[in-house]
Amino acid sequence: MIKVQDVIATNYRVPDLDKMEKFLTDFGMVRARRDASKLYMRGAGTLPYMTSVEQGEPAFVSVTFRVETMAELEEAAKLPGSSAITDATGPGGGKQVSIKGPDDFRIDLVHGQQAAEPLQVREPLQVNFAQQKNRVFTLQRPANEPARVFRIGHCVFKVTNADAAVAWFRDTLGMLITDRIHVPDNSKVTLGTFLRCNKGKNPADHHSILCLQSEPGDIKVHHSSYEVQDPDAVHIGHYWLKQGGYKSEWGVGRHLLGSQVFDYWRDPWGHMFEHYADGDLLDDTAVPGDYPGTQENLAQWGPELSPTFFQ
Ligand SMILES: [Fe+2]
Repeated sequence: MIKVQDVIATNYRVPDLDKMEKFLTDFGMVRARRDASKLYMRGAGTLPYMTSVEQGEPAFVSVTFRVETMAELEEAAKLPGSSAITDATGPGGGKQVSIKGPDDFRIDLVHGQQAAEPLQVREPLQVNFAQQKNRVFTLQRPANEPARVFRIGHCVFKVTNADAAVAWFRDTLGMLITDRIHVPDNSKVTLGTFLRCNKGKNPADHHSILCLQSEPGDIKVHHSSYEVQDPDAVHIGHYWLKQGGYKSEWGVGRHLLGSQVFDYWRDPWGHMFEHYADGDLLDDTAVPGDYPGTQENLAQWGPELSPTFFQ
């Protein structure tokens, strides 16, 4: 059975690669490779790239997951609508299969990708808490710079049938349901469901995928999300992007489900990108939660929800 182990890349298409590289650089990524028609951006962690961008009409192209075995790729290649197994052309190489997900979203599975050398970045900040002092004679001076992203955390799909999409991610990619949110006065109607990778007793992010119930005509990727070093980096990144003239969508705040300190931004074509830090980790024993979809359950603190957040 296929059990994806992590989301490792998002793949976009935009008309102006220079403009997108500038945005992603200000967002905290670093160029891994670029040729005439394709750009690969990496973070400071061991992923050789985590966002690829091809030239063309603005669109989300696909999300990429890592699988542990070649047998899983072979199984994926037999699914209806799948590609054959090919060489993955991005940095790090490996083998790849593209499969057809809910609402025909393209999902790429990669096996055998070579890890990259991590980049040199500042150490996580030592924080002096009221009840616990961790820093004496050491000054707190994080640089004013783009928030260095380390890895991709998750991707959110707007789908025509959230329950069917969740069943697909569970049954086809071996994912586990973490939390469901429902219409506040009708617990039978799903608004969205968070799914995490099944890594057994190893900790997995609270979610690698969220499926949001939407309408035909509004089927798209809502946002993709990238982990930065610590909550200070989320705030520093906010002011860096603000100074760069980009569009802030919502943040800085702290989510309830997943607990991440979050901050959402739009790229020049309106795709939403999120910085986060300090998210929850769970193993395969966590019992699924079920919550009414209220604003209090979206964020524990932070600015009022942006009216355009779900667009
Ligand atoms: Fe998110």
